[in-house]
Amino acid sequence: MEATTRRLSLKANEVSSWTPDSLFQEKDGVRRSAWPMLPCLLAVLFLALLGMHIWPSGRSLLWGDPLRAWDPHVKVAGLAVTHNIKPEAKAPQKRVHIFVCTDEYDLRPLAVLINSTISNAMHPDRLHFHMVMPADRLFTRKYLKYLFPKAHIEMASISKFIDIHEVNKHITFRNDSGARKELISPYNFLPFYLPEVYKDIDRFIYLDSDIVVKGNIENLYNTDLEGNAAAAVEDCSQRFAIYFDFAQLDEIQAREGLDRPAWLPPEPFDPKACVFNRGVLVVDSKRWIEENITSAIIWWMDEFQKSERNLYKAGLSQPPFLLALYGKHKVLDGMWNVRGLGRPNLSELEREYFFNTFSMNYTRKPFVSPFADTAHILHFNGAYKPWKGKRKREITDDIVSLCGRKERGLECAELWWEYLSPTANDFLKPFAKKTTSE
Ligand SMILES: *[C@@H]1O[C@H](CO)[C@@H](O)[C@H](O)[C@H]1NC(C)=O
Ligand SMILES: *[C@@H]1O[C@H](CO)[C@@H](O)[C@H](O)[C@H]1NC(C)=O
Ligand SMILES: *[C@@H]1O[C@H](CO)[C@@H](O)[C@H](O)[C@H]1NC(C)=O
Ligand SMILES: *[C@@H]1O[C@H](CO)[C@@H](O)[C@H](O)[C@H]1NC(C)=O
Ligand SMILES: *[C@@H]1O[C@H](CO)[C@@H](O)[C@H](O)[C@H]1NC(C)=O
Repeated sequence: MEATTRRLSLKANEVSSWTPDSLFQEKDGVRRSAWPMLPCLLAVLFLALLGMHIWPSGRSLLWGDPLRAWDPHVKVAGLAVTHNIKPEAKAPQKRVHIFVCTDEYDLRPLAVLINSTISNAMHPDRLHFHMVMPADRLFTRKYLKYLFPKAHIEMASISKFIDIHEVNKHITFRNDSGARKELISPYNFLPFYLPEVYKDIDRFIYLDSDIVVKGNIENLYNTDLEGNAAAAVEDCSQRFAIYFDFAQLDEIQAREGLDRPAWLPPEPFDPKACVFNRGVLVVDSKRWIEENITSAIIWWMDEFQKSERNLYKAGLSQPPFLLALYGKHKVLDGMWNVRGLGRPNLSELEREYFFNTFSMNYTRKPFVSPFADTAHILHFNGAYKPWKGKRKREITDDIVSLCGRKERGLECAELWWEYLSPTANDFLKPFAKKTTSE
């Protein structure tokens, strides 16, 4: 495609500045020149060991600098195995599986997701990205690999295992349900099928594609799920009441016999229950399968399809997920999904919540995210995706969303653009033209 010519226009030095190649080869380089340089090597080793004691490992985790973040830990970890007796250093290297499901043509959200995740990870070499995409998009792996040559990226088509038409049969769009039309993509529902497809992966993280990771994702991966099928962030500025028709839910729960599935909780759903967002999940595949979560979600989607009045509103994949995982999820630290950054305003409930809980008095517009400063994950859900707007807002343009506690915080979109260099943007932009949602 035209990408091959684009590729040539990238300057070699620009490429190498974000290539962690050299760092991976460092260990071998040392070995090859070992004999004549032995005294030097020993001195270096001594200094390195000394450094390990006076330089805490967290120090080299520098935000916003993928090369530095990638480098020192690979080395320190390598030495630690032989010389340090920390028990966790001896544990076998664990792979961290990260799944994203998307049919969007624009690759820039994926580039930002990958770049931010590896830039802020303690062990970027442990991360394995699985991008679940339509079969005709698998070739795009080469463009992401070009930008991040040492990242483990796999493009996966799961149409071999799952019939997309079958998934589509359960998806119903109703124009009076307050859901955005683009939410009907089956790729919004595929995360719920992943445990059934990847049975050999015990645990994985699922991330929506509109995400910037600012924390060390390994910490998220190592969450103790306490026997639950999944973990998600709970957000009490949104309650179950905004999604569901409780009269219908009560009717469903009053059913008896074969009409009432075994997994349906006996106690009624609580309208005041806090909403937990499906955009960031840690999933224990085995528990998920044992508890029939996938079929429970499909069951609720079918109930929605059958319902005369809308059983739920304001979402398509989030509501059945909430019902199926009700009382069966572990609650994550809220910093792992600071959401709404692509929304233009706060709801009245959210405004009240900030006022009553934190004495923060916001107007409804623009949207404000006071916790973005300390977020481990920034989630740009909402209609205003940063990559669909400008890199820099004109002084006359409206501010969509503000991030941070300050009176006038940073514009949220800027936090997303930080992880896409102008060169990488020029490289990937040509693929953004064809969109599926229009
Ligand atoms: C919703 O769709 C129905 C038929 O599909 C149509 O008659 C109706 O006008 C639509 N309503 C809105 C609000 O778009
Ligand atoms: C899951 O489904 C299987 C088969 O349909 C059933 O035997 C089992 O009891 C279900 N488990 C739960 C926790 O509902
Ligand atoms: C604010 O957002 C809600 C949806 O969350 C929308 O219905 C409403 O029209 C918006 N209001 C303003 C003033 O933008
Ligand atoms: C909140 O801010 C608005 C103006 O934005 C002001 O009119 C109102 O009095 C404030 N409320 C409180 C309780 O401080
Ligand atoms: C990755 O993010 C870093 C930190 O913000 C930035 O300097 C770098 O240019 C980004 N890489 C790409 C390929 O955009």
